[in-house]
Amino acid sequence: MIEITKFALSYKKIKMYRTHSNGELRLTNVGQEVTLVGWVQKTRDKGFMMWVDLRDRYGITQLIFDEDRTPKEMMEKAKTLGREFVIQVKGEVIERVSRNSNISTGDIEILVKELTILNKSLVPPFTIEDETDGGDELRMKYRYLDIRRNPVRENLIFRHKVAIEVRKYLSDKDFIEVETPVLIKSTPEGARDFVVPSRMNAGQFYALPQSPQTFKQLLMVGGLDKYFQIVKCFRDEDLRADRQPEFTQIDCEMAFVEQEDVLNTFEGLTRHLLKEINGVEVADFPRMTYDEAMKKYGNDKPDIRFGMEFGELNEVAKHKEFSVFNNAELVVGIAVPGGNSYTRKEIDKLIEWIKRPQVGALGMVYSRCNDDGTFKSSVDKFYDEADLAKWAEITGAKAGDLICVLSGNTDKVRTQLSALRMELATRLGLRKPNEFAPLWVVDFPLLEWDEESKRFHAMHHPFTSPKPEDMHLLDTDPGKVRANAYDMVLNGNEIGGGSIRIHDKATQALMFDHLGFTPEEAKDQFGFLMNAFEYGAPPHGGLAFGLDRLVAILGGQETIRDFIAFPKNNSGRDVMIDAPSKIDETQLKELNLKLDLKL
Ligand code: AMO
Repeated sequence: MIEITKFALSYKKIKMYRTHSNGELRLTNVGQEVTLVGWVQKTRDKGFMMWVDLRDRYGITQLIFDEDRTPKEMMEKAKTLGREFVIQVKGEVIERVSRNSNISTGDIEILVKELTILNKSLVPPFTIEDETDGGDELRMKYRYLDIRRNPVRENLIFRHKVAIEVRKYLSDKDFIEVETPVLIKSTPEGARDFVVPSRMNAGQFYALPQSPQTFKQLLMVGGLDKYFQIVKCFRDEDLRADRQPEFTQIDCEMAFVEQEDVLNTFEGLTRHLLKEINGVEVADFPRMTYDEAMKKYGNDKPDIRFGMEFGELNEVAKHKEFSVFNNAELVVGIAVPGGNSYTRKEIDKLIEWIKRPQVGALGMVYSRCNDDGTFKSSVDKFYDEADLAKWAEITGAKAGDLICVLSGNTDKVRTQLSALRMELATRLGLRKPNEFAPLWVVDFPLLEWDEESKRFHAMHHPFTSPKPEDMHLLDTDPGKVRANAYDMVLNGNEIGGGSIRIHDKATQALMFDHLGFTPEEAKDQFGFLMNAFEYGAPPHGGLAFGLDRLVAILGGQETIRDFIAFPKNNSGRDVMIDAPSKIDETQLKELNLKLDLKL
């Protein structure tokens, strides 16, 4: 009985705050008495008349205070209003004399009869406008004010819509969302772990998951068949525009599937999202091998919205006396559309750009493709028209283009030319944010050589299965073994990746052996998984999308911070709550920790 009264009271109270939002009143509401709440966006005071823009999540409604029609006491109160005050007004909807076609409520205004100040506000440290005067750090420090701005709020709503569509699509396909633990043991996804000391187990630590990889595999052993989870993952790695220390994955796993089943399922999800969120139907969903992607684009996440494919020139560039090319492992070029219009100075600038330490090229050779079909290159001393014509043919250069050629160590030169390709495409406006070109990159190498530790690492993770036909190379040429691993790439970004997993103990043990684990280490770290494989583990595979990246790209951007409510800065700090921070002595003691910082 008491409960019901309480509910009725609180319900009545909620109703009292507002009758409408600030985005919904129209001419058809004229004459109605309404109650609105919100934040003061702006005031304009003409003495006898005053206007206030009242803002909430739904829009802006103009309020008018008029000496002749608004009670004197309310008029005086209105004069004390400042930006971002929270107020409630009661009044009548009237037609506006001068209409504002820029906002949906622009035909009406509220003639205020009663004003209540619900809360005051200090002057905000930056303007709450679409184009704010606040710098990055300041906006992050006062993120709750930043979130009041349209672009940030819209991004969060956009993210919500994507997440809803993901849940809808996968649920319809019989995937079930299962939560996996956050306090776990290290999962090897290639980054460092964030660790959490255990009070009850002195000297021992949990690790936060870099992904729920092992758990989702165990769910398959558990017979759940199709799993997904929108889940926070944690990686202590260097940050970039597309990386945060805590980020969200759409993590998925399926049992009794082959690579083709996984690709088809998640191609379906991507098509669904592009259609529902962006209204775009994807005609083509190409698949490209890793080797092809590296050869054609110098990159395992190629942006295929535009051409500028690599043309390998070894055959037509190493037959003359030019020692730079002759000594190079790879000579490779791209055609820059319309690039012949660049002045000598502009080309020099481009060469400077590519020599910056971030890119690291030693130099660049170029050939202009003149309108009359002739060529003019920076190495005319060595190469004649016939040679240059071949370069043009191989790179696909047409009259009016510029051929840019780099040479050196294959891996390095591909990375450098890929950076140049992306930079030039951005400058040329070829990376259109509302154009979407997804693809699968397949057949990744299983292992990757790490110069620092002088040993092979799993390119994806150690649970990825090698292609059976390459198994024989594991001992003789491990770098050549391909994996049943795939990435989904969208507009030059890796938005997801996964693999068909190993599901038998012997192969898993072999893999750990090749990765340099002793049998004891393997047992200690992954014994639980190997044991599970002995109890009827089904063949399984899956993938994980980076939700933050996916949302940012669907939203036409590449910086994921803009789509995260409370992101960390480039040093991994949350400047609003000031984390990470020190903990006090008592807490350290309880955790059996003793700090010995030599900073
Ligand atoms: P992977 O390590 O490729 O695979 O991660 C999957 C996807 O997560 C996104 N991502 C990130 N996004 C933001 N910030 C980061 N620091 C970050 N790191 C990764 C990327 C990436 O494609 N367990 C495997 C998946 C599997 O095999 O099923 C995994 O985590 O978009």
